[in-house]
Amino acid sequence: MRTKAILITGANGEVGHGLIRYLAERGNMPPVIVLDIRGLDDAIRPYVWETKVGDILDTALLDTLINEYEIDTIYHLAALLSTHSEFNPEQAHRVNVQGTVNLLRMAAEQSRLRGQDVKFMFPSSIAIYGLPDLETKAAAGAVNEDLFNAPTTMYGCNKLYCEHLGRYYAFHYRQLAVSDEPYHVDFRAVRFPGLISALTMPTGGTSDYAPEMLHAAAAGKPYACFVRPDSRIPFMAMPDAIKALLTLAQAPTEQLTRRVYNVTSFSPTAAELRDITVSAFSNAQIRFEPHQKRQAIVDSWPADVDDSAARADWGWNPDYDLRAAFDDYLIPTIAERYQVK
Ligand code: SER
Repeated sequence: MRTKAILITGANGEVGHGLIRYLAERGNMPPVIVLDIRGLDDAIRPYVWETKVGDILDTALLDTLINEYEIDTIYHLAALLSTHSEFNPEQAHRVNVQGTVNLLRMAAEQSRLRGQDVKFMFPSSIAIYGLPDLETKAAAGAVNEDLFNAPTTMYGCNKLYCEHLGRYYAFHYRQLAVSDEPYHVDFRAVRFPGLISALTMPTGGTSDYAPEMLHAAAAGKPYACFVRPDSRIPFMAMPDAIKALLTLAQAPTEQLTRRVYNVTSFSPTAAELRDITVSAFSNAQIRFEPHQKRQAIVDSWPADVDDSAARADWGWNPDYDLRAAFDDYLIPTIAERYQVK
């Protein structure tokens, strides 16, 4: 008998850290096995059953996993973020797209082997949007899932295409085969806004100015924000991101009217983020030095997203608005982490 397990790829990233801790605290779940090219930080290694150090492009390694385990749910978090991807777009495509195809194929194979659907949870992103100019962005307000799907970044193109691949594997995979497959990949995606964690820092994203300014302030370091003060995109506190993934994973299939959902919590400008950070850490030294090209990426992302489908279908409701995210989660946790008196 193979051990039933939950697989998390890219587990050593920000969302992986949060998810592993949450699953461990909740208990009463199949053991968690993780795959990350960097291994797993010591702090969270005790919470997982097994750590595989390896690449999602290594299909032999993925085959080993389904020989060893009966994988029930996959959280496929491994990806290169938007800024990082622009420095090596073809490598980003390999990791973000071919890596996802490898995992989807593995999930399809696993569904067949176990005679039951495999749940496939996928973090997509506001980077799949591409608004042509600031006037359109201002006029668009909260955009729904189907508008402005014309990303300007490799990462955004990759995530948008992977959403389609997920739908393909869920509903149309091998559609011309002689006999119908009774078991499928149960693909579900949330489009995350920028995420802010009190415990970890992102690497290579374009929404990173928010967590970077806050962590720099707590650490007593000066920070040059790479976007204009009036830049506005949606954000979410990390515990709500974990909540969104887990709530969608548990939603009854018949309630889902789509497989890709916007989720959001609050949409501050960079100036508002600066003000709230300065009010918490009075010695913060934050200045604005916009980087023209990273600014253009942020300007192409919506100021807000419409998450009414997630609210209606699976009861999405974030725990933290802007004030609560800072007052109840970010500031106390970060202050403790950096020992701010
Ligand atoms: N946080 C991501 C990035 O900046 C967007 O999903 O790349």
